[in-house]
Amino acid sequence: MSNPTAPPTTAVIRPYRHGDHDAVYDICVRTADAGGDARGRYASDDLMPDLFAGPYLHLEPELAFVLEYAGRVVGYVLGTADTQGFVRAYRREWIPRLAHRYPEPTGAPGNPDEEMLALHHRPERLLLPELAGYPAHLHIDLLPAAQGRGHGRRLLETFRAAAARAGAPALHVGMVTANMRARGFYDRLGFHVIPVPDPGPLTYLGRATGDPDG
Ligand SMILES: CC(C)(COP(=O)(O)OP(=O)(O)OC[C@H]1O[C@@H](n2cnc3c(N)ncnc32)[C@H](O)[C@@H]1OP(=O)(O)O)[C@@H](O)C(=O)NCCC(=O)NCCS
Repeated sequence: MSNPTAPPTTAVIRPYRHGDHDAVYDICVRTADAGGDARGRYASDDLMPDLFAGPYLHLEPELAFVLEYAGRVVGYVLGTADTQGFVRAYRREWIPRLAHRYPEPTGAPGNPDEEMLALHHRPERLLLPELAGYPAHLHIDLLPAAQGRGHGRRLLETFRAAAARAGAPALHVGMVTANMRARGFYDRLGFHVIPVPDPGPLTYLGRATGDPDG
């Protein structure tokens, strides 16, 4: 007879809980180098998660979902349905919350850590006019062992439906152009390129939230 209190042995997607925080941070840094492992790349392994996971977990936990397998969190999707509101809250709440760790840099960034700090202190970089019609945005990451099994599709679908319920007609991702594997994933799931002048190392992709993934 199965034990109803045992962790699930098939992968399940469920809403984020506070206790998932460290697992999400760990997955984030292990996938933050254009989809590969970024551990050891910055002075702290928390730097990338503090920019690309933590603010969403803190400010919009209801739009965060995790993939759990055998009692372990092995993937997540998180984001916002309202990028403008998120940027305002990032400046108002998230920057002051981490001020002890990340003081505002003076002068031009001189190394990769300082480049990330400059991004942290300029959340308004997310407000490109070309993205205004795609008010939701997301980040999705799975540990290598969980990739390529259809879980990314299901996580994305979960976020899409949640963003639609929250009133966003369309969503976007800003992905590192070098991450070819992720690009194949988004193309398959019906995203199109959103042309942006001077996109730097990023490619912007978007799609409507109205219909399930293609
Ligand atoms: C990118 C990522 C989220 C995709 O999730 P995944 O679970 O590996 O993808 P899935 O298995 O759900 O694939 C969904 C569909 O996309 C297709 N697909 C996935 N990657 C593809 C690729 N590189 N090229 C073509 N098709 C691809 C799959 O074949 C599948 O098609 P189907 O459902 O019609 O059969 C995941 O691999 C990942 O976390 N990678 C590391 C972190 C990362 O790069 N995150 C994105 C940052 S922008």
